[in-house]
Amino acid sequence: MRFFVDTADIAAIRELHELGMVDGVTTNPSLILKSGRDIAEVTREICELVDGPVSAEVVAEAAEDMIREGRHLADIAPNIAVKVPLTWDGLKACKALTDEGHMVNVTLCFSAAQALLAAKAGATFISPFIGRLDDVNLDGLQLIADIRQIYDNYGYETNVLAASIRSVNHVSECAKIGADVITAPPAVIHAMASHPLTDKGLAQFTADWARTGQKIGG
Ligand code: G3P
Repeated sequence: MRFFVDTADIAAIRELHELGMVDGVTTNPSLILKSGRDIAEVTREICELVDGPVSAEVVAEAAEDMIREGRHLADIAPNIAVKVPLTWDGLKACKALTDEGHMVNVTLCFSAAQALLAAKAGATFISPFIGRLDDVNLDGLQLIADIRQIYDNYGYETNVLAASIRSVNHVSECAKIGADVITAPPAVIHAMASHPLTDKGLAQFTADWARTGQKIGG
C-alpha cells in the first residue's frame, strides 16, 4: 500500500520521508492556508523532496479555468498530480488534463457513482473522503469497499486514494479493503506506531533489565 502524506508542512514531510514512509503528498487549499506559504513555492519544495506524486489543487470552478490552472500547476514539476473537484466541470477538466498526459486526482468524492464517473474520465486517482462521511453518520469505509469492488468488476485502473483519514483504524481497514493509497496527516502515521501494550511491555522489560545489573556492550 502506498502512503501519501496529507500536509504542506515541509518539516513533517521530511521527517517521514527519511524513514521511507512517503510515497507521495497531497495538499489542498486549506493545507496551503495552514502552511502560510505561497502555493507555487511550497509545492515546488515538496516536489524536490519527494519523487512520488504531489497533488496540487485547482480553485477555479469552470472547466476551462480549471484546465488553465491545472496546466500552470503541472508546470511546477513532472511529479505533480493536478487535483480537481468531483463536479461536472471537474470531470471535464480531468478528461482534458489526462489527455494531455498529466496525472489527475479527482477529489471531494462522496459516492460510488461519482467514483465511477471519475474512472470513466480517466482519473489517475479518486479521493473518497472517509472522515467527512463519518462526520455526518455515513460509512466512509463502506464507500472505499464499494469503489474497490466497482473498479475491480470492470478493470478500471484509477487508483483508490483513501482521503480524509482521521484514525489508525481508518488506515488498517483501508489496507484490508485494498485501497491502493491512503493519504493521512503526519499525526495519524506517527500514531500507527503506538500501542498501550507495547508501552506496558517495554516498561516491564526496562524494569526487569535494571534488576539484572547487566549492560549490553560494556
Ligand atoms: O486532502 C483532503 C482530505 O484528506 C481532507 O481531510 O480531515 O480535512 O476531512 P479532512
